[in-house]
Amino acid sequence: MGAQALHFETYALAKRLMARTSPVFVCSECSGETLKWQGQCPHCSAWNSLEQRAQTRPAGKGTRAAAPRSLQHEITAGAETRLGSGAAELDRVLGGGIVPGSVTLLGGDPGIGKSTLLLQVAAHVAASQPVLYASGEESVAQVSARARRLNVASVKLDLVTENDLDAILQVATERKAALVVVDSIQTVQLGSISASAGAVTQLRECTAALVRFAKETGTAVMLIGHVTKEGAIAGPRVLEHLVDTVLYFESEASSRFRIVRATKNRFGAVNELAFFAMTEGGLREIRNPSAIFLARAPEPAPGSVVTVTREGGRPLLIELQALVDRMRFGAPRRIAQGLDSNRVAMLLAVLNRHGGVSLQEHDVFVNAVGGIQISETAWDLPVVLALASSLKDRALDQGIVAFGEIGLTGEVRPVAYGEERIREAQKQGFRVALVPRENAPRKPVEGLRVLAVSRVDEALKAVFAADVERGA
Ligand code: TYD
Ligand code: MG
Repeated sequence: MGAQALHFETYALAKRLMARTSPVFVCSECSGETLKWQGQCPHCSAWNSLEQRAQTRPAGKGTRAAAPRSLQHEITAGAETRLGSGAAELDRVLGGGIVPGSVTLLGGDPGIGKSTLLLQVAAHVAASQPVLYASGEESVAQVSARARRLNVASVKLDLVTENDLDAILQVATERKAALVVVDSIQTVQLGSISASAGAVTQLRECTAALVRFAKETGTAVMLIGHVTKEGAIAGPRVLEHLVDTVLYFESEASSRFRIVRATKNRFGAVNELAFFAMTEGGLREIRNPSAIFLARAPEPAPGSVVTVTREGGRPLLIELQALVDRMRFGAPRRIAQGLDSNRVAMLLAVLNRHGGVSLQEHDVFVNAVGGIQISETAWDLPVVLALASSLKDRALDQGIVAFGEIGLTGEVRPVAYGEERIREAQKQGFRVALVPRENAPRKPVEGLRVLAVSRVDEALKAVFAADVERGA
Protein backbone atom coordinates (compact mmCIF):
# COMPACT_ATOMS: atom_id res chain seq x y z
CA MET A 1 0.00 0.00 0.00
CA GLY A 2 2.92 2.30 0.77
CA ALA A 3 4.36 1.72 -2.70
CA GLN A 4 1.00 2.54 -4.24
CA ALA A 5 0.78 5.85 -2.34
CA LEU A 6 4.18 6.76 -3.80
CA HIS A 7 2.96 5.91 -7.31
CA PHE A 8 0.00 8.23 -6.81
CA GLU A 9 2.36 11.09 -5.94
CA THR A 10 4.59 10.45 -8.94
CA TYR A 11 1.50 10.39 -11.12
CA ALA A 12 0.25 13.75 -9.80
CA LEU A 13 3.69 15.27 -10.31
CA ALA A 14 3.98 13.95 -13.84
CA LYS A 15 0.60 15.50 -14.66
CA ARG A 16 1.91 18.90 -13.61
CA LEU A 17 5.11 18.46 -15.62
CA MET A 18 3.20 17.80 -18.79
CA ALA A 19 3.56 21.35 -19.91
CA ARG A 20 4.91 21.68 -23.38
CA THR A 21 2.35 21.33 -26.09
CA SER A 22 3.04 20.45 -29.69
CA PRO A 23 0.40 20.28 -32.41
CA VAL A 24 -0.43 16.94 -33.89
CA PHE A 25 -3.01 15.86 -36.41
CA VAL A 26 -5.41 13.14 -35.41
CA CYS A 27 -7.58 11.14 -37.80
CA SER A 28 -11.25 11.26 -36.85
CA GLU A 29 -11.74 7.82 -38.43
CA CYS A 30 -8.96 5.74 -36.91
CA SER A 31 -7.40 8.12 -34.33
CA GLY A 32 -4.01 7.68 -35.99
CA GLU A 33 -1.59 10.53 -35.37
CA THR A 34 0.63 12.42 -37.81
CA LEU A 35 2.92 15.36 -37.24
CA LYS A 36 1.91 17.32 -40.34
CA TRP A 37 -1.38 17.82 -42.09
CA GLN A 38 -2.10 15.64 -45.10
CA GLY A 39 -5.17 15.25 -47.27
CA GLN A 40 -5.26 11.51 -46.64
CA CYS A 41 -4.68 9.69 -43.38
CA PRO A 42 -1.46 7.62 -43.74
CA HIS A 43 -2.90 5.01 -41.33
CA CYS A 44 -6.34 4.23 -42.66
CA SER A 45 -6.34 6.09 -46.00
CA ALA A 46 -9.47 8.09 -45.16
CA TRP A 47 -9.70 11.46 -46.91
CA ASN A 48 -9.95 14.83 -45.16
CA SER A 49 -10.17 13.20 -41.78
CA LEU A 50 -7.15 14.81 -40.05
CA GLU A 51 -7.86 17.40 -37.39
CA GLN A 52 -5.31 19.55 -35.60
CA ARG A 53 -4.99 19.11 -31.88
CA ALA A 54 -2.63 20.48 -29.31
CA GLN A 55 -1.19 17.46 -27.66
CA THR A 56 0.32 17.57 -24.25
CA ARG A 57 3.71 15.96 -24.13
CA PRO A 58 6.26 16.06 -21.35
CA ALA A 59 8.87 18.76 -21.99
CA GLY A 60 11.81 17.60 -24.10
CA LYS A 61 14.44 17.67 -21.37
CA GLY A 62 12.13 16.07 -18.85
CA THR A 63 11.45 13.09 -21.12
CA ARG A 64 12.83 10.05 -19.36
CA ALA A 65 12.14 6.38 -19.48
CA ALA A 66 10.05 5.16 -16.58
CA ALA A 67 12.14 4.11 -13.61
CA PRO A 68 13.13 0.47 -14.07
CA ARG A 69 11.74 -2.04 -11.62
CA SER A 70 13.17 -5.37 -10.70
CA LEU A 71 11.52 -8.16 -12.67
CA GLN A 72 12.14 -10.47 -9.74
CA HIS A 73 10.09 -8.14 -7.59
CA GLU A 74 7.32 -7.90 -10.18
CA ILE A 75 7.09 -11.68 -10.47
CA THR A 76 6.99 -12.32 -6.75
CA ALA A 77 4.36 -9.60 -6.38
CA GLY A 78 2.10 -11.80 -8.52
CA ALA A 79 -0.99 -13.76 -7.69
CA GLU A 80 -1.41 -12.91 -4.02
CA THR A 81 -1.92 -9.22 -4.79
CA ARG A 82 -4.96 -9.78 -7.02
CA LEU A 83 -8.21 -8.32 -5.79
CA GLY A 84 -11.10 -10.72 -5.31
CA SER A 85 -14.19 -9.59 -7.22
CA GLY A 86 -16.59 -11.20 -4.77
CA ALA A 87 -17.74 -13.74 -7.36
CA ALA A 88 -15.57 -16.84 -7.65
CA GLU A 89 -16.85 -17.39 -11.19
CA LEU A 90 -15.78 -13.92 -12.28
CA ASP A 91 -12.41 -14.33 -10.58
CA ARG A 92 -11.86 -17.51 -12.58
CA VAL A 93 -12.72 -15.74 -15.86
CA LEU A 94 -10.28 -12.96 -14.94
CA GLY A 95 -7.56 -15.54 -14.39
CA GLY A 96 -7.66 -15.44 -10.58
CA GLY A 97 -9.04 -12.02 -9.65
CA ILE A 98 -8.49 -8.40 -10.62
CA VAL A 99 -4.85 -7.51 -11.29
CA PRO A 100 -3.74 -4.20 -9.72
CA GLY A 101 -2.71 -1.78 -12.45
CA SER A 102 -4.74 -3.59 -15.09
CA VAL A 103 -7.52 -2.21 -17.27
CA THR A 104 -10.58 -4.34 -17.96
CA LEU A 105 -13.30 -3.51 -20.47
CA LEU A 106 -16.76 -4.97 -19.82
CA GLY A 107 -18.95 -4.81 -22.93
CA GLY A 108 -22.55 -5.74 -23.49
CA ASP A 109 -25.98 -4.60 -24.58
CA PRO A 110 -27.68 -1.81 -22.65
CA GLY A 111 -29.73 -3.20 -19.78
CA ILE A 112 -27.91 -6.53 -19.57
CA GLY A 113 -26.47 -5.86 -16.10
CA LYS A 114 -23.05 -4.22 -16.54
CA SER A 115 -23.62 -1.48 -13.95
CA THR A 116 -25.12 -4.03 -11.57
CA LEU A 117 -22.15 -6.38 -11.82
CA LEU A 118 -19.47 -3.73 -11.43
CA LEU A 119 -21.28 -2.04 -8.55
CA GLN A 120 -21.34 -5.41 -6.80
CA VAL A 121 -17.62 -5.87 -7.53
CA ALA A 122 -16.86 -2.29 -6.39
CA ALA A 123 -18.73 -2.83 -3.13
CA HIS A 124 -16.93 -6.10 -2.51
CA VAL A 125 -13.46 -4.60 -3.04
CA ALA A 126 -14.47 -1.56 -0.97
CA ALA A 127 -14.91 -3.77 2.06
CA SER A 128 -11.14 -3.62 2.44
CA GLN A 129 -9.78 -0.88 0.16
CA PRO A 130 -10.83 2.51 -1.22
CA VAL A 131 -12.86 2.28 -4.44
CA LEU A 132 -14.18 4.99 -6.74
CA TYR A 133 -17.30 4.37 -8.84
CA ALA A 134 -17.59 7.12 -11.46
CA SER A 135 -20.87 7.26 -13.28
CA GLY A 136 -21.52 9.54 -16.20
CA GLU A 137 -24.74 7.71 -16.97
CA GLU A 138 -26.73 7.97 -13.78
CA SER A 139 -27.10 10.36 -10.86
CA VAL A 140 -25.71 9.61 -7.42
CA ALA A 141 -29.32 9.04 -6.31
CA GLN A 142 -29.84 6.41 -9.00
CA VAL A 143 -26.59 4.62 -8.24
CA SER A 144 -27.24 4.64 -4.52
CA ALA A 145 -30.78 3.38 -5.09
CA ARG A 146 -29.26 0.46 -6.95
CA ALA A 147 -26.73 -0.03 -4.16
CA ARG A 148 -29.61 -0.22 -1.64
CA ARG A 149 -31.39 -2.74 -3.82
CA LEU A 150 -28.22 -4.80 -4.00
CA ASN A 151 -27.85 -4.37 -0.26
CA VAL A 152 -24.29 -3.13 -0.59
CA ALA A 153 -23.01 -0.22 1.41
CA SER A 154 -19.47 0.60 2.32
CA VAL A 155 -17.75 3.65 3.73
CA LYS A 156 -14.82 3.05 1.40
CA LEU A 157 -16.97 3.16 -1.74
CA ASP A 158 -17.07 6.66 -3.21
CA LEU A 159 -19.52 7.63 -5.92
CA VAL A 160 -19.03 10.52 -8.31
CA THR A 161 -21.26 11.65 -11.14
CA GLU A 162 -18.79 13.15 -13.51
CA ASN A 163 -18.05 13.22 -17.23
CA ASP A 164 -14.67 14.92 -17.03
CA LEU A 165 -12.00 12.23 -16.93
CA ASP A 166 -9.32 14.49 -15.48
CA ALA A 167 -11.62 15.26 -12.56
CA ILE A 168 -12.35 11.57 -12.05
CA LEU A 169 -8.66 10.71 -12.03
CA GLN A 170 -7.97 13.53 -9.62
CA VAL A 171 -10.53 12.18 -7.15
CA ALA A 172 -9.11 8.67 -7.62
CA THR A 173 -5.63 10.02 -6.88
CA GLU A 174 -6.80 11.90 -3.77
CA ARG A 175 -8.64 8.88 -2.40
CA LYS A 176 -5.82 6.52 -3.35
CA ALA A 177 -8.35 4.19 -4.90
CA ALA A 178 -7.35 0.56 -5.39
CA LEU A 179 -10.12 0.18 -7.98
CA VAL A 180 -11.77 2.72 -10.26
CA VAL A 181 -14.95 1.83 -12.16
CA VAL A 182 -15.88 4.06 -15.10
CA ASP A 183 -19.53 3.72 -16.11
CA SER A 184 -19.36 4.18 -19.07
CA ILE A 185 -16.40 4.93 -21.32
CA GLN A 186 -18.87 6.49 -23.79
CA THR A 187 -19.82 9.20 -21.30
CA VAL A 188 -16.39 10.47 -20.22
CA GLN A 189 -14.27 13.02 -22.00
CA LEU A 190 -10.96 14.82 -21.82
CA GLY A 191 -11.17 18.59 -22.01
CA SER A 192 -8.01 18.73 -24.12
CA ILE A 193 -9.77 16.95 -26.98
CA SER A 194 -12.41 18.77 -28.97
CA ALA A 195 -14.43 15.71 -30.00
CA SER A 196 -17.63 14.98 -28.08
CA ALA A 197 -17.97 12.14 -25.58
CA GLY A 198 -18.41 8.79 -27.30
CA ALA A 199 -16.54 9.82 -30.47
CA VAL A 200 -13.79 7.43 -31.48
CA THR A 201 -11.05 9.96 -30.70
CA GLN A 202 -12.44 10.57 -27.19
CA LEU A 203 -12.89 6.86 -26.55
CA ARG A 204 -9.32 6.15 -27.52
CA GLU A 205 -7.73 9.07 -25.71
CA CYS A 206 -9.75 8.52 -22.53
CA THR A 207 -8.89 4.84 -22.52
CA ALA A 208 -5.22 5.62 -23.15
CA ALA A 209 -5.28 8.10 -20.23
CA LEU A 210 -6.89 5.48 -17.99
CA VAL A 211 -4.30 2.89 -19.04
CA ARG A 212 -1.53 5.36 -18.19
CA PHE A 213 -3.15 6.11 -14.85
CA ALA A 214 -3.54 2.40 -14.06
CA LYS A 215 0.04 1.51 -14.96
CA GLU A 216 1.56 4.45 -13.12
CA THR A 217 -0.43 4.19 -9.92
CA GLY A 218 -1.10 0.46 -9.73
CA THR A 219 -4.84 1.13 -9.58
CA ALA A 220 -7.11 -1.47 -11.19
CA VAL A 221 -9.49 0.15 -13.67
CA MET A 222 -12.73 -1.38 -14.95
CA LEU A 223 -14.53 0.26 -17.86
CA ILE A 224 -18.07 -0.30 -18.97
CA GLY A 225 -18.79 -0.07 -22.70
CA HIS A 226 -22.12 -0.40 -24.44
CA VAL A 227 -21.47 -2.81 -27.24
CA THR A 228 -22.52 -6.18 -28.48
CA LYS A 229 -20.01 -8.82 -29.37
CA GLU A 230 -21.05 -8.66 -33.01
CA GLY A 231 -21.37 -4.85 -32.76
CA ALA A 232 -19.90 -3.45 -35.92
CA ILE A 233 -20.23 0.10 -34.57
CA ALA A 234 -16.87 1.75 -34.09
CA GLY A 235 -17.49 1.82 -30.36
CA PRO A 236 -15.44 0.10 -27.68
CA ARG A 237 -14.25 -2.49 -30.17
CA VAL A 238 -11.51 -0.04 -31.15
CA LEU A 239 -10.43 -0.05 -27.49
CA GLU A 240 -9.89 -3.77 -27.25
CA HIS A 241 -6.20 -3.63 -28.08
CA LEU A 242 -5.56 -0.84 -25.57
CA VAL A 243 -6.84 -2.69 -22.53
CA ASP A 244 -5.53 -5.80 -20.80
CA THR A 245 -8.74 -7.74 -20.51
CA VAL A 246 -11.99 -7.71 -22.47
CA LEU A 247 -15.12 -9.27 -21.01
CA TYR A 248 -18.44 -9.57 -22.80
CA PHE A 249 -21.84 -10.05 -21.29
CA GLU A 250 -23.95 -12.48 -23.30
CA SER A 251 -27.54 -13.45 -22.83
CA GLU A 252 -30.46 -14.86 -24.68
CA ALA A 253 -33.22 -12.27 -25.06
CA SER A 254 -35.75 -12.57 -22.23
CA SER A 255 -33.58 -15.01 -20.32
CA ARG A 256 -32.52 -14.15 -16.79
CA PHE A 257 -29.25 -16.00 -17.25
CA ARG A 258 -26.14 -14.05 -18.10
CA ILE A 259 -22.80 -15.30 -19.37
CA VAL A 260 -19.60 -13.32 -18.99
CA ARG A 261 -16.94 -14.38 -21.48
CA ALA A 262 -13.30 -13.27 -21.58
CA THR A 263 -12.40 -12.60 -25.22
CA LYS A 264 -8.99 -11.17 -24.38
CA ASN A 265 -6.97 -11.63 -21.23
CA ARG A 266 -3.35 -10.74 -20.60
CA PHE A 267 -3.58 -12.38 -17.19
CA GLY A 268 -5.49 -15.56 -17.90
CA ALA A 269 -7.08 -17.85 -20.46
CA VAL A 270 -9.55 -16.56 -23.03
CA ASN A 271 -13.03 -17.93 -23.63
CA GLU A 272 -13.54 -18.80 -20.01
CA LEU A 273 -17.19 -18.35 -19.07
CA ALA A 274 -18.86 -17.22 -15.86
CA PHE A 275 -22.58 -17.81 -15.39
CA PHE A 276 -24.93 -15.51 -13.51
CA ALA A 277 -28.64 -15.18 -12.92
CA MET A 278 -30.26 -11.74 -12.67
CA THR A 279 -32.35 -11.74 -9.51
CA GLU A 280 -34.23 -9.23 -7.38
CA GLY A 281 -31.05 -8.66 -5.41
CA GLY A 282 -28.63 -8.32 -8.32
CA LEU A 283 -26.50 -10.86 -10.15
CA ARG A 284 -26.05 -14.19 -8.44
CA GLU A 285 -23.32 -16.49 -9.68
CA ILE A 286 -24.23 -19.99 -10.78
CA ARG A 287 -21.72 -22.57 -9.65
CA ASN A 288 -23.33 -25.48 -11.46
CA PRO A 289 -24.26 -24.13 -14.90
CA SER A 290 -25.01 -27.56 -16.33
CA ALA A 291 -28.38 -27.32 -14.63
CA ILE A 292 -29.43 -24.33 -16.78
CA PHE A 293 -28.83 -26.08 -20.04
CA LEU A 294 -30.58 -29.22 -18.94
CA ALA A 295 -34.09 -27.81 -18.78
CA ARG A 296 -35.44 -31.22 -19.56
CA ALA A 297 -38.92 -32.54 -19.89
CA PRO A 298 -39.90 -34.97 -17.12
CA GLU A 299 -40.73 -37.61 -19.76
CA PRO A 300 -38.20 -38.81 -22.34
CA ALA A 301 -38.88 -36.97 -25.61
CA PRO A 302 -37.91 -38.02 -29.14
CA GLY A 303 -35.26 -35.74 -30.65
CA SER A 304 -33.62 -34.79 -27.35
CA VAL A 305 -30.05 -35.83 -26.54
CA VAL A 306 -27.72 -34.57 -23.82
CA THR A 307 -24.08 -33.89 -24.63
CA VAL A 308 -21.03 -32.68 -22.72
CA THR A 309 -19.37 -29.73 -24.40
CA ARG A 310 -16.31 -28.00 -23.22
CA GLU A 311 -17.22 -24.46 -24.09
CA GLY A 312 -15.66 -21.92 -21.77
CA GLY A 313 -12.86 -23.97 -20.32
CA ARG A 314 -14.87 -26.58 -18.49
CA PRO A 315 -17.27 -29.42 -19.15
CA LEU A 316 -20.87 -28.39 -19.51
CA LEU A 317 -23.91 -30.59 -20.01
CA ILE A 318 -26.21 -29.29 -22.71
CA GLU A 319 -29.39 -30.63 -24.19
CA LEU A 320 -29.52 -30.73 -27.97
CA GLN A 321 -32.87 -30.98 -29.70
CA ALA A 322 -33.72 -31.99 -33.23
CA LEU A 323 -37.01 -32.00 -35.06
CA VAL A 324 -37.42 -33.55 -38.46
CA ASP A 325 -40.62 -33.11 -40.33
CA ARG A 326 -41.72 -34.37 -43.73
CA MET A 327 -41.17 -31.56 -46.19
CA ARG A 328 -44.36 -30.20 -47.72
CA PHE A 329 -43.01 -28.36 -50.78
CA GLY A 330 -39.93 -26.66 -52.20
CA ALA A 331 -36.40 -27.25 -50.95
CA PRO A 332 -35.90 -28.87 -47.54
CA ARG A 333 -35.07 -26.45 -44.73
CA ARG A 334 -32.01 -26.87 -42.48
CA ILE A 335 -32.16 -24.55 -39.51
CA ALA A 336 -29.67 -24.65 -36.63
CA GLN A 337 -29.73 -22.52 -33.46
CA GLY A 338 -26.47 -22.26 -31.56
CA LEU A 339 -24.72 -24.62 -33.97
CA ASP A 340 -23.13 -24.23 -37.39
CA SER A 341 -25.74 -25.10 -40.01
CA ASN A 342 -23.11 -26.11 -42.59
CA ARG A 343 -21.89 -28.73 -40.18
CA VAL A 344 -25.46 -29.95 -39.66
CA ALA A 345 -25.79 -30.30 -43.46
CA MET A 346 -22.62 -32.37 -43.50
CA LEU A 347 -23.92 -34.59 -40.70
CA LEU A 348 -27.13 -35.16 -42.65
CA ALA A 349 -25.08 -36.40 -45.61
CA VAL A 350 -23.02 -38.71 -43.37
CA LEU A 351 -26.19 -40.01 -41.74
CA ASN A 352 -27.60 -40.80 -45.16
CA ARG A 353 -24.51 -42.53 -46.57
CA HIS A 354 -23.18 -44.28 -43.49
CA GLY A 355 -26.07 -44.56 -41.09
CA GLY A 356 -28.84 -45.60 -43.47
CA VAL A 357 -31.03 -42.70 -42.27
CA SER A 358 -32.24 -40.47 -45.09
CA LEU A 359 -33.60 -37.03 -44.32
CA GLN A 360 -33.44 -35.70 -47.85
CA GLU A 361 -37.18 -35.17 -47.94
CA HIS A 362 -37.45 -33.69 -44.50
CA ASP A 363 -37.19 -30.24 -42.99
CA VAL A 364 -34.58 -30.31 -40.21
CA PHE A 365 -34.38 -28.08 -37.12
CA VAL A 366 -31.58 -28.37 -34.57
CA ASN A 367 -31.30 -26.35 -31.37
CA ALA A 368 -28.82 -26.04 -28.48
CA VAL A 369 -30.98 -25.38 -25.40
CA GLY A 370 -30.26 -22.28 -23.29
CA GLY A 371 -29.06 -19.97 -26.05
CA ILE A 372 -25.41 -20.99 -25.86
CA GLN A 373 -23.26 -20.98 -29.01
CA ILE A 374 -21.36 -24.22 -29.49
CA SER A 375 -18.32 -24.11 -31.71
CA GLU A 376 -16.65 -27.44 -31.03
CA THR A 377 -17.20 -30.69 -32.91
CA ALA A 378 -18.00 -32.96 -29.95
CA TRP A 379 -21.71 -32.40 -30.57
CA ASP A 380 -21.62 -34.18 -33.96
CA LEU A 381 -22.54 -37.54 -32.48
CA PRO A 382 -25.39 -36.28 -30.24
CA VAL A 383 -26.86 -34.28 -33.14
CA VAL A 384 -26.89 -37.38 -35.33
CA LEU A 385 -28.58 -39.33 -32.52
CA ALA A 386 -31.13 -36.57 -31.98
CA LEU A 387 -31.98 -36.50 -35.70
CA ALA A 388 -32.40 -40.27 -35.83
CA SER A 389 -34.45 -40.20 -32.62
CA SER A 390 -36.81 -37.58 -34.03
CA LEU A 391 -37.19 -39.43 -37.32
CA LYS A 392 -37.86 -42.75 -35.62
CA ASP A 393 -40.06 -40.97 -33.08
CA ARG A 394 -38.27 -42.95 -30.40
CA ALA A 395 -36.93 -41.21 -27.31
CA LEU A 396 -33.52 -42.07 -25.95
CA ASP A 397 -33.26 -43.09 -22.34
CA GLN A 398 -32.83 -39.97 -20.23
CA GLY A 399 -29.78 -41.41 -18.53
CA ILE A 400 -27.74 -41.35 -21.77
CA VAL A 401 -25.15 -38.74 -22.61
CA ALA A 402 -23.16 -38.69 -25.87
CA PHE A 403 -20.24 -36.85 -27.41
CA GLY A 404 -17.85 -37.35 -30.34
CA GLU A 405 -16.79 -35.89 -33.64
CA ILE A 406 -17.95 -37.48 -36.87
CA GLY A 407 -15.83 -37.69 -40.04
CA LEU A 408 -16.97 -37.83 -43.66
CA THR A 409 -16.42 -41.57 -43.91
CA GLY A 410 -18.79 -42.19 -41.02
CA GLU A 411 -16.08 -42.72 -38.41
CA VAL A 412 -16.54 -41.46 -34.84
CA ARG A 413 -13.43 -39.56 -33.84
CA PRO A 414 -12.08 -38.78 -30.40
CA VAL A 415 -12.35 -35.29 -28.89
CA ALA A 416 -10.18 -33.48 -26.36
CA TYR A 417 -10.89 -33.81 -22.61
CA GLY A 418 -12.75 -37.11 -22.98
CA GLU A 419 -12.16 -38.22 -19.40
CA GLU A 420 -13.18 -34.87 -17.99
CA ARG A 421 -16.46 -34.99 -19.93
CA ILE A 422 -17.16 -38.52 -18.75
CA ARG A 423 -16.52 -37.52 -15.13
CA GLU A 424 -18.90 -34.57 -15.44
CA ALA A 425 -21.63 -36.86 -16.82
CA GLN A 426 -21.12 -39.23 -13.93
CA LYS A 427 -21.22 -36.37 -11.46
CA GLN A 428 -24.54 -35.20 -12.89
CA GLY A 429 -26.02 -38.67 -12.46
CA PHE A 430 -25.98 -40.02 -16.01
CA ARG A 431 -25.87 -43.78 -16.31
CA VAL A 432 -24.74 -44.40 -19.90
CA ALA A 433 -22.12 -42.51 -21.93
CA LEU A 434 -21.78 -43.06 -25.66
CA VAL A 435 -18.24 -42.02 -26.55
CA PRO A 436 -15.62 -42.41 -29.30
CA ARG A 437 -13.60 -45.60 -28.82
CA GLU A 438 -10.34 -43.66 -28.27
CA ASN A 439 -12.03 -41.65 -25.50
CA ALA A 440 -13.12 -44.71 -23.50
CA PRO A 441 -11.53 -44.60 -20.04
CA ARG A 442 -9.09 -47.39 -19.23
CA LYS A 443 -10.57 -47.99 -15.82
CA PRO A 444 -14.30 -48.51 -15.23
CA VAL A 445 -16.24 -45.45 -14.02
CA GLU A 446 -18.45 -46.09 -11.04
CA GLY A 447 -22.17 -45.97 -11.79
CA LEU A 448 -21.62 -45.18 -15.48
CA ARG A 449 -21.70 -47.62 -18.36
CA VAL A 450 -19.42 -46.49 -21.18
CA LEU A 451 -20.42 -47.50 -24.71
CA ALA A 452 -17.40 -46.98 -26.95
CA VAL A 453 -18.11 -46.75 -30.68
CA SER A 454 -16.02 -46.11 -33.76
CA ARG A 455 -18.70 -45.76 -36.47
CA VAL A 456 -21.98 -43.91 -36.88
CA ASP A 457 -24.04 -47.04 -37.64
CA GLU A 458 -22.55 -48.71 -34.57
CA ALA A 459 -23.59 -45.72 -32.44
CA LEU A 460 -27.15 -45.79 -33.77
CA LYS A 461 -27.41 -49.51 -33.09
CA ALA A 462 -26.01 -49.06 -29.61
CA VAL A 463 -28.52 -46.44 -28.44
CA PHE A 464 -31.58 -47.80 -30.16
CA ALA A 465 -30.93 -51.34 -28.96
CA ALA A 466 -33.67 -52.49 -26.63
CA ASP A 467 -31.53 -53.00 -23.51
CA VAL A 468 -30.11 -49.48 -23.53
CA GLU A 469 -33.55 -47.99 -24.00
CA ARG A 470 -34.75 -49.78 -20.95
CA GLY A 471 -31.91 -48.09 -19.09
CA ALA A 472 -29.88 -51.16 -18.19
P1 TYD B 1 -28.01 -2.54 -15.41
O1 TYD B 1 -26.92 -3.03 -14.54
O2 TYD B 1 -28.46 -1.14 -15.22
O3 TYD B 1 -27.63 -2.74 -16.95
P2 TYD B 1 -26.53 -2.01 -17.86
O4 TYD B 1 -25.64 -1.24 -16.97
O5 TYD B 1 -25.85 -3.13 -18.59
O6 TYD B 1 -27.28 -1.14 -18.80
O7 TYD B 1 -29.21 -3.56 -15.20
C1 TYD B 1 -30.37 -3.36 -15.87
C2 TYD B 1 -31.44 -4.39 -15.58
O8 TYD B 1 -31.21 -5.24 -14.49
C3 TYD B 1 -32.71 -3.64 -15.31
O9 TYD B 1 -33.65 -4.08 -16.29
C4 TYD B 1 -33.11 -4.03 -13.94
C5 TYD B 1 -32.38 -5.31 -13.69
N1 TYD B 1 -32.02 -5.50 -12.30
C6 TYD B 1 -32.53 -6.57 -11.59
O10 TYD B 1 -33.32 -7.37 -12.10
N2 TYD B 1 -32.16 -6.74 -10.27
C7 TYD B 1 -31.31 -5.91 -9.66
O11 TYD B 1 -31.00 -6.09 -8.46
C8 TYD B 1 -30.80 -4.78 -10.39
C9 TYD B 1 -29.86 -3.80 -9.74
C10 TYD B 1 -31.15 -4.62 -11.71
MG1 MG C 1 -25.53 0.86 -16.82
